[in-house]
Amino acid sequence: MKSKDEANKVTRPAILVEDIYFNWPNGSQVLRSCSLEVPKGQFWMLLGNNGSGKSTLLRLLARILSPRSGTIHFQGQVGFVFQNPDHQLVMPTVGADVAFGLVAERLSQVQIRNRVEDSLSAVNLLELQRRPIYALSGGQKQRVAIAGAIARNCDILLLDEPTALLDPDSQLDLVTQVQSLVKNRGITALWVTHRLSELDYSDGAFLLDKGQVVAQGRPELLKQRLIKDSS
Ligand SMILES: Nc1ncnc2c1ncn2[C@@H]1O[C@H](COP(=O)(O)OP(=O)(O)O)[C@@H](O)[C@H]1O
Ligand SMILES: [Mg+2]
Repeated sequence: MKSKDEANKVTRPAILVEDIYFNWPNGSQVLRSCSLEVPKGQFWMLLGNNGSGKSTLLRLLARILSPRSGTIHFQGQVGFVFQNPDHQLVMPTVGADVAFGLVAERLSQVQIRNRVEDSLSAVNLLELQRRPIYALSGGQKQRVAIAGAIARNCDILLLDEPTALLDPDSQLDLVTQVQSLVKNRGITALWVTHRLSELDYSDGAFLLDKGQVVAQGRPELLKQRLIKDSS
């Protein structure tokens, strides 16, 4: 029989945000009583108008900022993917960039090679391992950033408008890529977007308005509500 602690662990959400408040130093309040939870192994999206606080919330989750009050809990290792991959990729080639993320871990050359190859296969980039970063498309760069997180054994991915700079084909490619990582690798993902079309690939979504989650649930229900609101 499982102990109570073990049973709790199984059912605990991968991401749990409880009653977060955040003000900028100038006093303007961005997040107020903001709460959400993302179940383990699911793909959830965070929507909201410009300025509603989505990026601030992600920076709080990344611990780049600290909330005035409230708590944030993760079940697992967290990795981030930002809007502009050029701010995230630092090495000259695809393989070197993914390996660079592993320097802090004491791994043998063989272990590093295995992790790099495994994570690049997960995002269908294995054949581009030696390609210079500058010769990649925006979508391929985002996939390298994701591979970096997977190589570090991240099981939770936080992505802040990762498709904002992509053309429609690469946009579709990236969202289906993350969807398959969630399905096939048990990854949990929280994906910030303002594109309603991307909702179809999610298990559920949160709508943020003036720093508060005002609606959440199945993508089709949220979509109906958003379409109704805008008409
Ligand atoms: N460094 C900052 N200092 C002060 N205000 C900021 C800063 N960054 C963002 N803001 C403000 O916080 C609010 C939320 O911004 P943000 O989280 O970027 O929204 P979103 O990502 O939903 O567009 C906006 O009103 C924005 O102007
Ligand atoms: Mg933003």
